[in-house]
Amino acid sequence: MPEHLLAIDDVKEDFMDILKWAIEFKRMWKTGDEIAINFHPLADLTVGSIYEKPSTRTRVSFEVGISRLGGYPLTLLKNDIQLGKSETVADTANVLSRFLGCITYRCFAHSDVAELAANSSVTVINALSDKHHPCQAAADLMTIIEEFPDNKSLKVAWVGDGNNVLHDLMLACAMLGIDIHYACPKGYEPADDVVSRAEEYASENNSKVISTTDPIDAVKNSNVIYTDVFVSMGEENLKDKIDDFDGFQVNSELISNADSTWKFMHCLPAHRGDEVTDEIMDHENSIVFDQAENRMWAQMSLLAYLVDNPAWSAMGEMMGIGF
Ligand code: CP
Ligand code: NVA
Repeated sequence: MPEHLLAIDDVKEDFMDILKWAIEFKRMWKTGDEIAINFHPLADLTVGSIYEKPSTRTRVSFEVGISRLGGYPLTLLKNDIQLGKSETVADTANVLSRFLGCITYRCFAHSDVAELAANSSVTVINALSDKHHPCQAAADLMTIIEEFPDNKSLKVAWVGDGNNVLHDLMLACAMLGIDIHYACPKGYEPADDVVSRAEEYASENNSKVISTTDPIDAVKNSNVIYTDVFVSMGEENLKDKIDDFDGFQVNSELISNADSTWKFMHCLPAHRGDEVTDEIMDHENSIVFDQAENRMWAQMSLLAYLVDNPAWSAMGEMMGIGF
């Protein structure tokens, strides 16, 4: 079991079980099952969450999920703490580890969350860096499995920037043997090291990772069409970047190439009218709000798995989901 979650393949060995656990726990919690409601592996622990960038879903889903698991969520906003001003990442990690049971960190440079983890004696969870967004990928694959329980012959299409969200989505799909076809404009491809890892996992699972610059190619016969903003947080100075994404908008014309079972996904926040039209965002096949809700359930499974693995395993056995 890994100590930290920096990219989604850190939980490669148990990924499917983490997702099944989340799906079953959600069902139990929503039907008022006392065992789920009284499952408090984080009791007496404070989980600190550092945010260098804004957040709606990650912050709220962590705060609510941590409370539901019996812990205390302590949110630390960039302007309120010394990190990045008068204190290094390493010293911050050393100090926070003396108080907290777990740390989540949303940062600009991925090297910062890696450095925090390297200097922390408690579990560190990446809550989005410029390179990875593992909590998003866990919620995404949980949502895909809920929608398509027989997930083996699925095709997921990505249309847009080769960014942090695509990186963990492609790793996660490959880890579960789901085909991923991504269309990014030239110059906006995902990082080579991430693609290599995804290709390795896909070959272990007889699935494919396919790259194209043609959105129609990617979307053709796909079951899931996924996009994200063209300009990510921290790239606001790249004003003209958006001009390079001409033809990459997810709209009804592009989606007409998909399989009839298609579902639309987006990590949110969406820039309606840029990467996706209102018509697709609000379509009955859009599952973006289920996907957003699943951030909490997937993170609850990850938190329990990482912070109190025996309790997570015992709960999994009790759920009878094949541990
Ligand atoms: N998807 C996601 O991480 O959303 P927030 O930026 O609102 O946390
Ligand atoms: N790629 C986006 C994801 C936001 C959840 C960003 O990094 O801003």
